[in-house]
Amino acid sequence: MKFFLDTANVEEIKKYLAWGVVDGVTTNPSIIAKEGADLEQRIKEIAALVDGPISAEVVSTELEGMLEEGRKYAAWHKNVYIKLPMTPNGLMACKKLNDEGYNINMTLIFSASQALLAAKAGAALISPFIGRLDDVGQDGMKLIEEIVYMLGNFDYKAEVLTASVRHPRHVIDAAKLGSHVITMPPDVLGKLIQHPLTDKGLAIFLADWEKLQNNK
Ligand code: E4P
Repeated sequence: MKFFLDTANVEEIKKYLAWGVVDGVTTNPSIIAKEGADLEQRIKEIAALVDGPISAEVVSTELEGMLEEGRKYAAWHKNVYIKLPMTPNGLMACKKLNDEGYNINMTLIFSASQALLAAKAGAALISPFIGRLDDVGQDGMKLIEEIVYMLGNFDYKAEVLTASVRHPRHVIDAAKLGSHVITMPPDVLGKLIQHPLTDKGLAIFLADWEKLQNNK
């Protein structure tokens, strides 16, 4: 399973890159706005650090604008994935940009039918937003299950990227279902390693070792 960080914060990216488990980065307009960053500058900065897919999202809602922005983003670095919203224009842009050889991440996916359309249009990544479905009382993980199962019947190149992740349980459940990729906020990745029994166990081991040294 590939782990992406859902952030544009360079310090957080550096911190978790050092763990050796980060395969890529996803951004969106809200994430970039939170950093107060210039999109081109920040994407280039991230691409210089991370050797893997870096998603940059278009903000145009018109087909021509999406195509123009997408081509511009992709020229910044070979690892840039063009992130397009699941709208009719986004779908058409996906087909066209995929045909031109670009990598597409179809975002704002909330149903299996949207995922199937994205796969047919040539998306490399399909991003179902599970946390936002949970937020409105639906079961986001059920959607991951349905999409992974459905795409398993065919040989589309699309990989399922579990997005809008809120806690470690989301990560484990998505992994059990065979989601190819997951993108998580840095704090969720940080929580994956924590367990109080690990800390307690280590403290006991070290204290016992110390006692042994003192009794020699
Ligand atoms: C995915 O690529 C999106 O950037 C992200 O996962 C959205 O998550 P949110 O619902 O926490 O904003």
